[in-house]
Amino acid sequence: MAVITNAPRGTQDVLPAQSARWQYIENTLLRTAELFGFREIRTPVFEHTELFSRSVGDTTDVVQKEMYTFLDKGKRSVTLRPEGTAGVVRAVLQNGLLGGALPLRTCYVIPCFRYEKPQAGRLREFHQFGVEMFGPKSPAADAQVIALANEIFQTLGIEGLELHINSIGCPECRAKYQQALREYFTAHLGTLCETCQGRLEKNPMRILDCKSPECHAVVEGAPLVLDYICDDCREHFEGLKKRLDLLGISYSVDPKIVRGLDYYTRTVFEFVSQKIGAQGTVCGGGRYDGLVEELGGSATPALGFAMGLERLLLQMDACGCLFPEENTCDIYLAGMGEAGSLRAQQLCYELQQEGFYAECDCMERSVKAQMKYADKHGAKYAAVLGKSELQSGECTVKDMRGGKSVQVSLTDFAGQIYRLLLEGAYTEVIEAGEQLQKGQE
Ligand code: HAM
Repeated sequence: MAVITNAPRGTQDVLPAQSARWQYIENTLLRTAELFGFREIRTPVFEHTELFSRSVGDTTDVVQKEMYTFLDKGKRSVTLRPEGTAGVVRAVLQNGLLGGALPLRTCYVIPCFRYEKPQAGRLREFHQFGVEMFGPKSPAADAQVIALANEIFQTLGIEGLELHINSIGCPECRAKYQQALREYFTAHLGTLCETCQGRLEKNPMRILDCKSPECHAVVEGAPLVLDYICDDCREHFEGLKKRLDLLGISYSVDPKIVRGLDYYTRTVFEFVSQKIGAQGTVCGGGRYDGLVEELGGSATPALGFAMGLERLLLQMDACGCLFPEENTCDIYLAGMGEAGSLRAQQLCYELQQEGFYAECDCMERSVKAQMKYADKHGAKYAAVLGKSELQSGECTVKDMRGGKSVQVSLTDFAGQIYRLLLEGAYTEVIEAGEQLQKGQE
């Protein structure tokens, strides 16, 4: 029994009391991305396994250790997406979107799945907001994408994130670097974990982001990619730095960032927090100029980032960010007796159709219990509909926050409730202004 009443390890429910926070964040992300020209794309939760092994790379931790992969009933190997980029590139190619006007800018809010050891900020089902941009090779695009992430943090009131940037070069300069790494790690072969010993020949860069402690110490003294990049890659990197300076976005160059996914070329970056524990990377991204071609399209430069929404929330709480107040019931209509309860339901539906948040009883409670419920749920106004109200054609609408009660006719009920709510909101604004003024005096 315990199994079906416990969610799988590393997953989280978003309960009704928290969903307003999530909606606020998601809306802010999508709206801010729109200001930079990004439009939402939705791709399947699962894809053919090969898509991820080809793009993320079959020597990465993600592919080797963390994917939720299974055979479907048709015996095809499918995988719950561990990240968003691969699926977006696949969808863009399949739907011929690169034939339209470039750059193509897309964004997404998605659940992702990685079989990792759960801890604060690290889950097995987590959520990413990401953007992917196709077409531009100029560092202006790198700066635009980083500026969007930066603007998102500012809009949400997030402080204290440090931007780290690096360049990991292109396939040409990478070859020289890989050789230097091979030589370095061969000298420390005995100290590396078993997985990394296997990575040495095929992809020594992946040893740099291995999570096992024995590899960490060796990685400390490894050669740095920035010392090996070619003139073109260096010029690109300098171009990005110049633009970030121009936009007033502070950063530090961190030659140790290589990112854990194989598709990256040139620019890589991370926004890191010191406030949310060991899993401090809130956002990570970079260029992947070879991926479109790798997946069967014509060579097209591309870049993007993704941020983990759970980590974003941790950071927002750590910074004391404000969230909008939850919407509370505009009016509760209590029904007394059969006729009163029928009329309450009818009026309630009319109000809902007009766009009000209205509630009435469906628990067959007494009028007293209905009013208690209305109070507990923070209803702004409440009214009782019984025999006498139906006869007189009007009812008393009570201001539940202590204001005056008013008589309201049951004809054009919605219009009058609208006026009441407007007056109430107006009074609240005036009172808040007066409080503020008193505080300043
Ligand atoms: P990533 O660095 O693997 O990059 O993930 C991006 C973000 O997702 C991380 O910075 C973190 O906030 C969040 N994240 C990753 N794994 C977990 C986890 N197990 N639990 C909670 N949050 C997690 C990518 O996924 C790339 N696709 C980003 C990208 C887009 N690069 C270019 N375009």
